[in-house]
Amino acid sequence: MSDKGEQICIFDTTLRDGEQSPGCSMNLTEKLTLARQLEKLGVDVIEAGFPIASDGDFESVREVARELRETIVCGLARTAPKDIERAAEAIEAAAKPRIHTFIATSDIHLKHKLRMSREQVLEAVDRAVRQARGYCDDVEFSAEDATRSDREYLAQVCRVALDAGASTLNLPDTVGYTTPSEYSALIHYLLETVPDSNRARFAVHCHNDLGLAVANSLAAVQAGARQIECTMNGIGERAGNTSLEEVVMAIKTRPEVFKGLDTGICTQEIYATSRLLCSTIGVPVQPNKAIVGDNAFAHEAGIHQDGVLKAAITYEIMTPESIGKASNELVLGKHSGRHAFRDRLQELGLLVEGDEFERAFKRFKDLADAKKTIFNEDLEVIVADAALATEDRFAVGEISIISGTFGTPSATVEIAVDGEARKTTALGVGPVDALFKAISELTGTKSELIRYAVNAVTAGLDALGEVSVTLEEGGRRMIGHGAHEDVLVASAKAYVHAINKLEWHKRRRSLDGPKGV
Ligand code: KIV
Ligand code: ZN
Repeated sequence: MSDKGEQICIFDTTLRDGEQSPGCSMNLTEKLTLARQLEKLGVDVIEAGFPIASDGDFESVREVARELRETIVCGLARTAPKDIERAAEAIEAAAKPRIHTFIATSDIHLKHKLRMSREQVLEAVDRAVRQARGYCDDVEFSAEDATRSDREYLAQVCRVALDAGASTLNLPDTVGYTTPSEYSALIHYLLETVPDSNRARFAVHCHNDLGLAVANSLAAVQAGARQIECTMNGIGERAGNTSLEEVVMAIKTRPEVFKGLDTGICTQEIYATSRLLCSTIGVPVQPNKAIVGDNAFAHEAGIHQDGVLKAAITYEIMTPESIGKASNELVLGKHSGRHAFRDRLQELGLLVEGDEFERAFKRFKDLADAKKTIFNEDLEVIVADAALATEDRFAVGEISIISGTFGTPSATVEIAVDGEARKTTALGVGPVDALFKAISELTGTKSELIRYAVNAVTAGLDALGEVSVTLEEGGRRMIGHGAHEDVLVASAKAYVHAINKLEWHKRRRSLDGPKGV
């Protein structure tokens, strides 16, 4: 492994660990769009799902595997033979396939969850890794809850996995329990204790329960780990996973600390990827989120502004351009044509082709008619919307809303149901209530509204409003997202988007199998 020693492998699990967290589910089209962007970002491995979990997960892994040619595509499997078979089937068509198998190794998990002895777990590891190697050369093994496992036993597990043919050994901090110095010591210990440890790449996978996921991952890298498992915007189970953008920018910004280490990430794609994820799942990042938050490069305090104007280095340790965040300039207007639009999308790394381009261009023209200034952020939303507008049963048509202090608010709404236009009028306690009642009637949805949130995407009175709507039906929650200069139209789009996702899951996703790890 010495030839790869200085390159940190970035293993992205946004589509698996990230997707399984509440409110972050994505459908096949959304996963494919994100996978393409992650490949552009330059991640080394994409964990595209957990194929045994459901038919939908299987299909997503298979489609991502069929499509991507540069990136390793990985499917997750427990050590059970049928899990590994299913993962192998899903990644069969990948140019660079990987099977990732895991089992817990802490006594807590062995006793309470697996009800297996240490010896039985060792046997399961050996058998699973050998089975996986029968299907593909690139096999990763993870010792779930490694950081609460007995060190000597963990070393034994690693040895068995290595001897059985695993080339990546992952030591997850599954419950976000460890600290940087403790994790670093564990990696040192395993590198020294496991015989021939240099034949494997040691990987780290941290959860953020104590807010230490990024710090722990970086400490592990300094101790000799060479793969970081992470997600875009840090989404993931409970408090999330290690945030991709934070570890990558830390390594890039502090070369003297991470001595000669680098990643293959094209950092100029970070911002576009983060925005695409936000608009796909309808979950914005907090304004002060490191690297990708709205305020990450905003200097508000007078002394800071003065310093930055004199020399950016006074308060700026990295530039917005380094993550692909262009300044909030006016980019296009209503007289801009197809060429200018295409050029601008290309510059922003947002270019889409075919029907998606046509939908995006039409949306841009409509928006440019209604709104004086179109910002880069508007274009990101337009493109994300266009990319997601597929496989939908319902589409928002014309809308008219009456509200105010006289009389009862009412909404007249037209919805295309399987291509056929339907129209109704509903009354409500407010305009949004009336709007949602009309849409529920036309779509026949039985879902319950859980959350409704409005955000302005850009500044100014004609800002594009971004609305997120969370709906629940049959125990499944879906977030819909919509953007429009009229916040009520954005609300209708978000509501219908969520219903379309619920419909998609009803049709495509089997309820069998484990729901996640
Ligand atoms: O957190 C964890 O332990 C996991 C493993 C499946 C790698 O997600
Ligand atoms: Zn995890």
